[in-house]
Parts: sequence; C-alpha cells; structure tokens
Amino acid sequence: MSLKILCLLFSVTFAKAAGQTGCTITEYKQVDDVLKRCTNITISNLTMPGGIQLKLDLQKGSTLTFEGTTVFEVAHWEGHLVEVTGEGVLVQGAPGSILNAQGEKYWDGQGGNGGLTKPKFFKIGTTGGSVFRHIYLLNCAHFCVGITASDVHVHHFTIDVVAGNLRGGLNTDGFGVSNSHNVLIEDSVVMNQDDCVVVNRGTNMVFRNLQCYGTHGLSFSVGDSHKDAVNGVTKNITFEDCHVADGLYGIHFKTKRGTGLVTDVTYKNIKLSGIQEDGIYINQDYGDIGNTSRSLQIANLSINNVYGSMNGALARPVHVVCNENACSNWNWSGISIEGTGKNYCNFSPNGFNC
Ligand SMILES: *[C@@H]1O[C@H](CO)[C@@H](O)[C@H](O)[C@H]1NC(C)=O
Ligand SMILES: *[C@@H]1O[C@H](CO)[C@@H](O)[C@H](O)[C@H]1NC(C)=O
Ligand SMILES: *[C@@H]1O[C@H](CO)[C@@H](O)[C@H](O)[C@H]1NC(C)=O
Ligand SMILES: *[C@@H]1O[C@H](CO)[C@@H](O)[C@H](O)[C@H]1NC(C)=O
Ligand SMILES: *[C@@H]1O[C@H](CO)[C@@H](O)[C@H](O)[C@H]1NC(C)=O
Ligand SMILES: *[C@@H]1O[C@H](CO)[C@@H](O)[C@H](O)[C@H]1NC(C)=O
Repeated sequence: MSLKILCLLFSVTFAKAAGQTGCTITEYKQVDDVLKRCTNITISNLTMPGGIQLKLDLQKGSTLTFEGTTVFEVAHWEGHLVEVTGEGVLVQGAPGSILNAQGEKYWDGQGGNGGLTKPKFFKIGTTGGSVFRHIYLLNCAHFCVGITASDVHVHHFTIDVVAGNLRGGLNTDGFGVSNSHNVLIEDSVVMNQDDCVVVNRGTNMVFRNLQCYGTHGLSFSVGDSHKDAVNGVTKNITFEDCHVADGLYGIHFKTKRGTGLVTDVTYKNIKLSGIQEDGIYINQDYGDIGNTSRSLQIANLSINNVYGSMNGALARPVHVVCNENACSNWNWSGISIEGTGKNYCNFSPNGFNC
C-alpha cells in the first residue's frame, strides 16, 4: 500500500471516529442526515416538535451525547418520544444535560387509563453490549424508560417526576423491562408515581444500587389483565442493594391471567423506609382480588435481608396471596420490617414465620 493511500485511510478512519464535522444536531430536520453520516453524534439543546418521535437508529458502535436541554413539545399521542436502536452503542448525557417531556402539561390524575393521551418517554431497543449512562429524564407524562433489549447496561440515570406527586402524575413507571435478556441497571435514582422497576418478561437481569422515592416498588407485572395467554418463562432476576422510600410498596409481584412461570428471583439487601401499604406484597390475584384460580407460577423466590420501616398503623410488612398450587420453593431470611399492620400469608415461605 502506498503511503498516500495509507494516509488517506488513516484520515478517513480518524475523521469517522472523532473529528467528524457537522455531527451536532440542534434542529429536528438535521436528524436523518446526521444519523446517516456520523457515528459520533451530539444532540445539543434540541426542541422536538410535538407528535414526532426522535428516532435514533444508530450505526453499529456509535456514540450519542445529549447536551443542554432536549425538550419535547406537547402533543396528545402515545410516544415514545425517543427510541434508540442499534448494536453496541453508547448513549450518554453530558454533565448538566436534561431531557424534558413536560409531563406537567399532561398530568390529569388519570395516567394511562383515561383523560388526555400521554406519550411514553424513552425506549431502549438496542442489542450487543450497548451502554446508556448519565441521563436525566424530567417529568415523564406516562411511562419513563421502556426496555426491550439484549445485553444492555444502564447506569447513572435520574428519573425525576417528583413534581407529579402534587400535580396528578400517575403511571409514571421508572424502568419497565419486557422481552429482554442480559440487562444490568445500576446506580440510578427514580422519583415517580408508579413502579420504580417493573419486569414483565425476560431472563438474566440485575438491578443494583437503585434509590426509589415515592414509587410502587421493585416489581413484577406478569400475565395479562384481560385474557388467558401463554406468558412464557421469566427467569434469573436479581434486585440487590436498593433503597425504596415513601411509596406504596417495597417489593411487589403482580401476576395476572394466563399461564407462565417466574422463577429464580432473588431480592437481597433491600432497605425500606416509610412504605405506606405493604412492604413485601405477593399479589397473585392482581386486578381481580379474590380470584385464586389463576395459574401463573412463582417459583424459587429468594428474599433475604429486607429491612426498614412502614408508615401508618395499617401498613403491613408482609402480604402474600398465592393462587392454588402456584407458589413453590421460596426461601426467605432476614426479613425485619417494622410495622404495626398485621401480616397475611396464605402460603408460607421457608424461613419466614408470617
Ligand atoms: C466524539 O466526539 C467528542 C467531541 O468531539 C470527542 O471528545 C470524543 O472523543 C469522540 N468520541 C469518539 C468515540 O470518537
Ligand atoms: C443550551 O442553551 C443554554 C440556554 O440558552 C445555554 O446556556 C447553553 O450554553 C446551551 N448549551 C449548549 C451545549 O449549546
Ligand atoms: C443470571 O443472570 C446473570 C446476570 O445477567 C448472569 O451473570 C448469570 O450467568 C445468569 N445465571 C444463569 C444461571 O444463567
Ligand atoms: C378467575 O380467573 C380465571 C383464570 O384466569 C378465569 O377463567 C375466571 O373467569 C376468573 N373468575 C372470575 C370470577 O373472574
Ligand atoms: C431453598 O432451600 C432448600 C433447602 O435448603 C434448597 O434445597 C433449595 O434449593 C433452596 N431454593 C432456592 C430457590 O434457593
Ligand atoms: C428451582 O431451583 C432448582 C435448583 O435450586 C431447580 O432444580 C429447579 O428447576 C428450579 N425450579 C424452577 C421451576 O425453575
């Protein structure tokens, strides 16, 4: 190879990696062109027009950085406002950056069940060792982060819907994970009005060092509310070293209609403070209280070292409602949740005296 060609190759490679020009997006109309040309992209102080998705289908191995404020103008549609796809990508927020969904302009106390149509916020649909880090999401109108991905690492997120507490925020789920495999979410903060994390379906997930404020807890929501369907197997899910404060539940299993299995689930080192309803709530009759004929199974559920406090005289540390023959092989240890509400269990985990 001649030196000239080598130099050319080098400069092309170099330009592709770092010195790309025109790879900053400040207006929506630039998105398509920049995504086509660039693998190192900055989105800077972008205002997205309402009703249009910021669709970021990134080239393999790309880096995308949000800087300044990305704001999404109001429109009554389902979202997601942002959707990221690609393989082996890095998506990050620069220091001080914020993505603002302007939820305060939608909240009406009805969440996803009525009233105004509210867009879901941030969808992760990546594969192949992608990383999302240092992202600050402000005022989700509806669900905050939706993940349907494989091999993804999410860390240092702040999900800040604290303003929704007094202004009718509802169904502002923090991280919702469905049909995903090999997911690690850690070192993040969620302040909202629904689940901190909710696992719907998938395998091999770890949720670690999460701080949840005002939430509905570290949850599973499995099956279908309306019909009997085969839900498949959700397996090998761990929550560890988390703090859940001030919300309705600490740990919550919601199983609905249909068949399927949730197994090999571990919760360990979970601190609760000021929880208002149930510290640990296994709720196999979710959405149809008293119907214990549903068959979705919860097996191999290990809970250890869950401690802390409840808030209110009726707040119940432990509440277990299992369906007939639908719970098995639960080993619990080190459950010490202070509260005056009376525990209820219709199934007895090994190692725990209800
Ligand atoms: C992307 O561009 C930024 C700013 O120009 C630079 O600091 C960074 O190193 C680049 N990243 C990659 C992976 O090339
Ligand atoms: C974004 O806008 C703010 C306010 O106008 C400005 O202070 C800041 O420098 C901008 N950030 C970038 C990265 O251009
Ligand atoms: C469970 O998931 C973790 C995290 O993804 C993984 O490291 C581990 O190998 C999985 N265990 C099994 C038995 O698949
Ligand atoms: C209870 O759940 C079963 C299984 O999903 C369903 O077939 C049945 O209709 C439900 N019963 C009532 C009273 O809703
Ligand atoms: C529960 O403990 C029993 C007895 O020690 C053990 O055989 C079983 O594998 C444990 N199950 C889980 C899910 O850890
Ligand atoms: C529960 O765990 C044991 C090993 O501890 C395993 O043999 C069994 O298959 C698991 N049960 C289910 C339903 O996954």
